[in-house]
Amino acid sequence: MGRKLLLKDINVPGIKSFEVYRKMGGYASVEKALKTMTPDSVMEEVKKSGLRGRGGAGFPTGMKWSFLDRKSDKPRYLICNADESEPGTFKDRFLMEYLPHALIEGMIVSSFALGANTSYIYMRGEFRWIFPILEKAIEEARAAGFLGNNMLGTDYSLELYVHSGGGAYICGEETAQIESLEGKRGNPRNKPPFPAVVGLYGCPTVVNNVESIATVPHILNMGGDEYAKIGIGKSTGTKLISASGHINKPGVYEIELGLPVEEFIYSDEYCGGIWKGRKMKACVPGGSSVPILPTELMLKTAKGEPRLMSYESLSDGGFATGSMLGSGGFIVFDETACIVRNTWTYARFYHHESCGQCSPCREGTGWMEKVLHRIETGHGKMSDIDLLVDVAKKIEGNTICPLGDAAAWPVAAAVRHFREEFEYHVRYPEKVKDPKHFEKEP
Ligand code: NAI
Ligand code: SF4
Repeated sequence: MGRKLLLKDINVPGIKSFEVYRKMGGYASVEKALKTMTPDSVMEEVKKSGLRGRGGAGFPTGMKWSFLDRKSDKPRYLICNADESEPGTFKDRFLMEYLPHALIEGMIVSSFALGANTSYIYMRGEFRWIFPILEKAIEEARAAGFLGNNMLGTDYSLELYVHSGGGAYICGEETAQIESLEGKRGNPRNKPPFPAVVGLYGCPTVVNNVESIATVPHILNMGGDEYAKIGIGKSTGTKLISASGHINKPGVYEIELGLPVEEFIYSDEYCGGIWKGRKMKACVPGGSSVPILPTELMLKTAKGEPRLMSYESLSDGGFATGSMLGSGGFIVFDETACIVRNTWTYARFYHHESCGQCSPCREGTGWMEKVLHRIETGHGKMSDIDLLVDVAKKIEGNTICPLGDAAAWPVAAAVRHFREEFEYHVRYPEKVKDPKHFEKEP
């Protein structure tokens, strides 16, 4: 069995309640931090741990915290980004629903480290049923003295609020989220300035993902150096992976970073292999924003080394032969899946979710959707395939926020690795008019 931290107590009956969570050692990190540590020493442990942001970008958490403008006399804020919307990603939802106190505990120690006295959990609008779960957990923590004024008899005070978004994917982008929390339309801002300097209400703000925040108590309990021993190289610790698609055992798994991809897909401890005795065709390892890879490149790098579940190994070879760990949304496609149809589905999503501020994203996502639709439905031309690549290139790097890149990369990668499938759609229009065409012709 691989090392478990976040999910070690997931099967303990009643773990959602404060009482059981506390009995299992919960909130020990808050006592340790508030009674025996300074905010700087908490931050130092997080830096030492090498923890990288679990929302998708993998930016070092301790470094992000250290960018917070501490000279400013303005209030500082911590926002937990719980707007998990990346297609294929559902691990934060799982954490909040089944281990709400893990997030609340993480919010308290992280807010303490940052010197924040007001913090927010910005939750995806569709997660309505989780709202009362978190509210209840906050009330239980408050009743036990872990929130409010002079917590645990110290001079530290914290108020924690859950804010529900309206269900827009773009509000997962940190500056759009800040705008939305301020009551405005969720349009991303230009960066710099980064939120660490000009964030919520113009004040220094850190925005961290749910899983990153829920990991901080484990780092404090075991010490940053010990945490850094888990994992591989600069990919330290454990990571939650949302596994879906054509596998025998879809679900949320905690893996130690560095696990071979092949073991993750085929072992019974994790995905349990490809369903219906079929072969795997492709995989998107980090949520819909990252490039798709064909099986051979998913299991082995271009150098012939086993591909590992780590930030470095999954991106080995750049986008020519690699992908990204991203948010850990691991989507597996069997040999009957139609890559063109899947790429069109993604393109529709990004077109729908584009906020429309920058023309390469607003117009480009629309064009990619249209061109993919006509190829998929048997109305495409050979030149459409290069047109797709051209539009993707024009979006990439030319937009305010990463949604543009996220829309462009999957399209460019699908054409790069599965061009023959796009050509097949153009050559045999009659065959692809049936939406289940590839299921019939593996
Ligand atoms: P990013 O790379 O622009 O930023 C990473 C973080 O580091 C941000 O918080 C940023 O403020 C901070 N940062 C970077 N340089 C900084 C500097 N010089 N000074 C201060 N702070 C600095 O990426 P971003 O926009 O945070 O995330 C993009 C990723 O999010 C995508 O790659 C995708 O994988 C993932 N994603 C995840 C979703 C989900 O539902 N979990 C949804 C959509 C995208
Ligand atoms: Fe909006 Fe797209 Fe520009 Fe992001 S890249 S700001 S989503 S138009």
